[in-house]
Amino acid sequence: MNKVTRLLHIQYPIIQGGMGNISHANLAAAISEAGGLGTLGVGTMTLSQVEKELVNIKALTNQPFCVNIPIRVQPNVKEVVQLILDYNVPIVSLSAGNPKPLIPVLKEAGVTIIVVAASVKQAKKAEEAGADIIVAEGYEAAGINSAFETTTMTLIPQVADAVDIPVVAAGGIGDGRGVAAAFCLGAEGVQMGTRFIATKEALVHEHYKQKLMESTDVDTLVVGRSLGKIRRLLKTSYAEELLELEKQGTSLEEFDRRTDETHHIAGAIYGNIDKGHLNGGQIAGLIRDVPTVKELIESMIADVSQLSERLKTTVK
Ligand SMILES: Cc1cc2nc3c(=O)[nH]c(=O)nc-3n(C[C@H](O)[C@H](O)[C@H](O)COP(=O)(O)O)c2cc1C
Repeated sequence: MNKVTRLLHIQYPIIQGGMGNISHANLAAAISEAGGLGTLGVGTMTLSQVEKELVNIKALTNQPFCVNIPIRVQPNVKEVVQLILDYNVPIVSLSAGNPKPLIPVLKEAGVTIIVVAASVKQAKKAEEAGADIIVAEGYEAAGINSAFETTTMTLIPQVADAVDIPVVAAGGIGDGRGVAAAFCLGAEGVQMGTRFIATKEALVHEHYKQKLMESTDVDTLVVGRSLGKIRRLLKTSYAEELLELEKQGTSLEEFDRRTDETHHIAGAIYGNIDKGHLNGGQIAGLIRDVPTVKELIESMIADVSQLSERLKTTVK
């Protein structure tokens, strides 16, 4: 047990990050059932879809689970918060925006608050606003990313030194070595996105899982830098088209249209990978199999135990 597992009432300090269009009840419940913390990614959902997912996850697990609100992109934030309270959701993660206005009402209802931060300044502000846990996310991560470009390796120890609340590392973690490294850097848990997509329970198209398994260390790219909409994607013909459009000076409207939810769904859910994008982090190069969530978590934890023994003998 450490501070993260105690605060979240979970067995292992492994969190699945919210993933719009991907982390529905099925995947999130499997992760909570396996001893980690599953998260519903509701940032792309209507209110009735959010409610349906809450009903579904409660039917699938009695373990704690989390709901992620990506503040800037979330439609109907106030109403989603009300649903969270109505359904007694125990943990909420707030990302992509200022969490301060949302924290008091959630805390008053006893909800544990995780805030995702990409810099020391953001982490300190979140702590002051009442966050219970910081997820510090580095530039290796999949999906919408920070303009700071600070990597996990450099971000975690600096955030851990700057705040008193526990820090969870995100971005570039995919196996027990990543967990052990995160702990060495001062984190007390990890959050993963990319690795959880290549599991049996993730309801994405097989082409997405196949693409993850075929990826090498250099098979992601970052689009949208020049437009202030930074996003890390798996390298596909569609992602390269986006990059080319950007080089040609495309408008923000056109870029937004080409990276909207319909294009994400086309790639990730329908497997039309030349017609839509696939979010993917740099850890994709490490993925070579599609285990169940339980197999993945258990093998990661077993590896951490072995590694901690190795650390004792090699650092003598
Ligand atoms: C398909 C996909 C969708 C994502 N959507 C969100 C989101 O809605 N909100 C959020 O805070 N993070 C989102 N993320 C980021 C993850 O929650 C997580 O922090 C990140 O993937 C960790 O880095 P990794 O991919 O290297 O494991 C998304 C990631 C992926 C792969």
